Formats: sequence, C-alpha cells, structure tokens
Amino acid sequence: MNSDNDLQIAGDILEVPHLLQPPREHPATVAEFVGLARSIAADRAQWAHLVRYDATTRWYHRLRTGPGYEVWLLSWVPGQSSGRHDHGRSSGVLTVLEGTLTERTGRGTRALAAGAQRVFAPGYVHEVVNDALEPAVSLHVYHPGLSEMPMHTSPYCEARPVTA
Ligand SMILES: [Fe+2]
Repeated sequence: MNSDNDLQIAGDILEVPHLLQPPREHPATVAEFVGLARSIAADRAQWAHLVRYDATTRWYHRLRTGPGYEVWLLSWVPGQSSGRHDHGRSSGVLTVLEGTLTERTGRGTRALAAGAQRVFAPGYVHEVVNDALEPAVSLHVYHPGLSEMPMHTSPYCEARPVTA
C-alpha cells in the first residue's frame, strides 16, 4: 500500500541536525504566544511568588519582555475590575492562572476559570472583573507590548436591526 503520507525517516533524525529547524528563541505567532502563556502558567515557580493582592488597586507585574511582546502578571481581589477598555494597536492572550474572572463584552458575559485563555485582536473591547469571592491571578501576553489602554465610558451598543 502506498499513500502521500508515506514518508519515513530512516535512522536517527538527531544525527542530521542540519535538517531540523532551530527552535525559535521568542514567540512570534498566535499559537506560540498561547504556548508561551501555557508554559508560564504551568510553571508556578515563575510567578507564584510575585502575586500580590492589593485592595486599593489591581496589582501588575511585568514578568517578561521580548522582541515584540510583553508578559504581565495581574492579581485581582474580589470586586476589582479593569473597566471597559481596548488595547490600542495591540493584540493579546489572556490566561487565567488562579481563581475565576468574568469577561464582559458587547456580545455577553463569560466566566473564565483557571486555565481559560482568550485571544484578542487590536480593537477588541472588553471589561474583566473578579466578581467571585476568591482572589484571582491572570497572565497577559501583549503583542507588540501594551502601549495604551483606552478606557470606554459609554455602554456597549446593543445590536440593532439594519434598516434600509
Ligand atoms: Fe484587556
């Protein structure tokens, strides 16, 4: 039997390293940013000692920077909210590390438990709030960094029927 997926490697592929692509030092694709967030989430030693719950403000810590990206750790006590905002020209990946956060958008509300991830493009508007009874921790990867976070004060526009 033969097929197009019949490729086999004879011998040890590690003996021909010039045929392998070198691993990238820094993430550059959405999948790689998601993967970076997952790997940090799984390694509590990278972030658990940096969590600080501050009742007066959400607590931020820039965990890492690289070419074209920043990684932020946020700590949320119950009741703390980001307010409704976008991320300027940045895209990002939000990952909940501990607790549960609630995300509100013009399309509705969703609970994000530990392990949940949201990927968003430039212009995405949302509000994130800890409306649970326990503190929460989240990880935010921004590409290419977060240079602005415009706040939105007007309520979400309700979908309206299109009229001619
Ligand atoms: Fe955000």
